[in-house]
Order: sequence, then C-alpha cells, then structure tokens
Amino acid sequence: MAGPAIAGHGPAQAATPSDRFGRMFPNLPPFIAADSRSRAALTDMGKRGGLLDARDPLNEGPVRLITNPELSPRNRDNPFHTAGTTFFGQFLDHDMTFDTTSRLAVPTPPESTPNTRTPALDLDSVYGGGPVASPSLYESDRIKLRIESGGQFEDLPRTANGTAIIADPRNDENMIIAGLQAAMILAHNRAVDHLRGQGVPTNQLFGQARQLVTWHYQWIIVHEFLPQVAGFGVTQDILAHGRRFYRPEPGPASIPVEFQGAAYRFGHSMVRPSYRANLAGNPDGTAFFGFIFDPAGEGQADPVDLRGGRRARRRFIDWQTFFDFGDGQVKPNKRIDRSISTALFNLPLGAIASGDPPTSLPQRNLLRHLTWSLPSGQRIATSMGWTSLTLDELAHYGLGLEHNTPLWYYLLAEAELIGDGIVLGPTGARLIGEVFIGLLQLDSRSYLRAAPANWRPTLPAQRPGSFKMTDLLRWARVDPASRAQ
Ligand code: HEM
Repeated sequence: MAGPAIAGHGPAQAATPSDRFGRMFPNLPPFIAADSRSRAALTDMGKRGGLLDARDPLNEGPVRLITNPELSPRNRDNPFHTAGTTFFGQFLDHDMTFDTTSRLAVPTPPESTPNTRTPALDLDSVYGGGPVASPSLYESDRIKLRIESGGQFEDLPRTANGTAIIADPRNDENMIIAGLQAAMILAHNRAVDHLRGQGVPTNQLFGQARQLVTWHYQWIIVHEFLPQVAGFGVTQDILAHGRRFYRPEPGPASIPVEFQGAAYRFGHSMVRPSYRANLAGNPDGTAFFGFIFDPAGEGQADPVDLRGGRRARRRFIDWQTFFDFGDGQVKPNKRIDRSISTALFNLPLGAIASGDPPTSLPQRNLLRHLTWSLPSGQRIATSMGWTSLTLDELAHYGLGLEHNTPLWYYLLAEAELIGDGIVLGPTGARLIGEVFIGLLQLDSRSYLRAAPANWRPTLPAQRPGSFKMTDLLRWARVDPASRAQ
C-alpha cells in the first residue's frame, strides 16, 4: 500500500461554520458530472429490483423473514452485530446532521447549506435548545423531559394527531428509534432523581443530569458502537495517533458531506426487512412482528408495520430483540454490503423529511451524491493510501462508474469484499471513525475533553468500569427485567 496522501488537509474546512456542511476532501473532483445520463444511471442503480435490492421474499411475511434468514440468501445476517446497532446508529445520525434544504441531484455548495443539528454528539436531538429555548419538550419544572404512556409502556409525548413533541421529528420515523428517544428521556429523568438524592441543588440539576447522560452515551459510542462498525483497531489507532483526514481545526467542527451524503449512510445496509418489536404486545398476548415499512400500514390507526407517528397499546419496544441481555432472545443485524432490504425501496412518504418522492432510499442516497458533487470512492481510497477497487458490475452504464464509483456504493462494496460485511472496510472505517472521534475531540463539553483523564462511567453497569447500551436501557428501566415488574 502507498503511504497516505494528505488530500483532505488545508484551510478549506477551517473556513466552514459549524452550522453549515463542509468537505473532507475539498481538492478531489466530483465522481461524475450532474447531467441526465448520470441521473439516469444512479436512478437505475437504486431502483427496486436493481443492483442493490436484496430481493427479500416479502410474501413470506415479517415473522419468517426474521426467524428463517435462509429465505433471503442475498441479505445475509451479521452474527457480530445485534439488530439494535442499526437504530443506535440512526439515532447518532440524527444527533449530528439534518439537511432540510438541498435538492436531490441539484449541485449545491455544502458551505451554504445549513445543518440544522449541532455537529456534536451532544443529544441536541433530545434536549433541543434546553428548557428555556425549547419549553415544550420539558415538564413544568423545566428540569425533566416530557414522557407519556402508550397504554402499557412509555411513549413519546404527542399532539392529538399523533405527532411526537420531540426536538427532531426523524426520531419518530420508526418505532425502534422512537423507543430509543423515549429511553434517553427516561435515562435523563432518572439521572435527575438520582442527583437530587445526592443533594445537587435544584438550579444545577438539569445541567448535571444532561452531562451525566451525555457522557455515558458518548462512552458507548467510543467503546461499543465504533468498535462494532469501524473496528476496534481503527478506533484505537485514531484515539492514540490522531486524525489524518478530518481536520477542521483551527475552525469549529462541521459535518463533511462525504460523511453525511455517503459514508455514514452505510447504516441503511444494516436494516432488516422485519423485526419483533415486542414479545407480548399484541392484544392476544402474542409478539408484535412487523415489516419495518409496509404499504398496507398507510392510514391505519395502529399500523401493521413498525412505522412511527402512531400511539397504540402495542407500539412499544422490548429491547431483548435488539441488544444482548444474555437471555438468548437477541436477533442479528444485516451485513454491511451491497444488498439493501427490499422494504427500503418503497418508504412511506412520512418517513422522508421533505415528504416527496423518490421513495427508494438507495435512489435518494445516490442522487444526493450529485447534490454534493462528491468524489469517487476510488479517489478517496487512494488519497488515504489504500489500493482502490474496480467494480465491474457498473461498467455497462458506459460512464466509467466502475472506476469512479459513487462513494456510498463503493464503501458498501469495500465492506463486503474486504470485511465480509461484518465491519466497514479500511476507507469507510477511517472516514467514519475520524469524524466521530473528531466531533468528540472538538466539543469542549464532551467527556473526551471535559472529563478528568481517568473518568470512567459512574452509572451502574453489569461489568463495572464498562458501560454498554444494555446498561443504559437498564438505567432507563426499559430493560426486560423492568418490563417484567
Ligand atoms: C429504518 C431505518 C432508516 C430509514 C428509514 C432511513 C431513512 C432515511 C431517509 C429518508 C433519509 C433522507 C435521504 C435523502 O433525501 O437524502 C436518510 C438520511 C440519512 N440517513 Fe438514514 N435511515 C435509516 C437508518 C439509518 C442508519 C442506521 C444510518 C446510519 C448508521 C443512517 C444514516 C443517514 C444519514 C447520515 C443521512 C443524512 C442525514 C441528513 O443530514 O439529512 N440512516 N435516512
């Protein structure tokens, strides 16, 4: 392998304000010109029944597609990730980045495009602007966050028409991410009680509880999530030896479009066609299985699928399907590869923030590459010092896409061909790892910056000194043992 070139370095990022998007590789050219031929090719690549469609036999129904993985031979399970990794990943995305203005396939400068989330892993998607700026998210004490009940268990606060009253509407896009949002709210509220019990003055309760929850969440990102998706070695290497490609300093942090428009969307490949939301939520006491999205759910008061935006007694999450509580109930994720669950080729319009087609998520991802004039996967890989891949299946478009591949597709292929879909490949892992760790290092309030060097999680954990998602869910009292009480 060649030594690393330093293509992403330079002042271009430093000039990017934190409320705008930036670039990690400002000197690399777009992978293709935005014209009718490139739009047609990307639309074809991302169509239902096309290259990326896992062709899940949806007629088998949501139960068999999770219990009989051999029914979807192209959509392989990842035995090393549990199903919740996907939704924690989605939750993290919604904490860092939200583009509400750019248009699909219309070239747009990132530097003039607002990012409506803070480019930090600071839970602004839960806390909004805080109790003063976002009072509708809080109890009248302005310390605890509002939470309601769906009839059996917790539900997000909602207006009469079902709209969740939360800082980021996307955290009610499906039941599982809505459940994570509710768990974070409950974790905060319990932290408030805990600190009050320790004698923390009322005027410091909100700030201290937010810090306690946020630091534990950030610890999980560094010690559980990043090692799973980027690998333990890459995560440790960036922490120990520094970032080489994501370097916005001396300016503030901003989200690069290589990450927002392509690399971090690798998570779409981990989504399963169906899940078991809970073990006995149905009115007859059976488990509630559903497709993540099913057109049959459109307009239903208590939809058959797992879309968000509705309240009903059975619409809550039992977390043992998603994270490993050691009871044998956990289900795996899908691999990080060029095979995307079929349900994602026909999203409900309600799952798309702008509310307009195309409803194929892969098409949206690929057309967003033209919006941002993203460099090819090969250019970024070679800039990082890796040998690049040629993806012959793209040659028939006659546009050179086999050598100049859209970054999202390239990174999925890399994960599949180099990491067997278990973990991101070298380019994807470095890109994701550097942005995540960079955001934490650039945030003066993160645990990496603000906590004492020897800080360790202080909330109760199964294994003292470590703190995992299962511990966070226990703290929020939404874990299986708490549900059983
Ligand atoms: C059921 C699960 C998911 C659904 C339905 C979903 C859906 C969507 C949709 C509709 C968009 C907007 C696409 C566009 O117009 O460009 C989007 C953007 C995005 N998604 Fe997902 N997503 C899911 C899970 C994930 C996961 C697991 C990750 C990462 C681990 C992820 C990362 C992203 C990123 C980075 C963006 C760009 C966000 C922005 O700045 O606006 N998504 N997703």
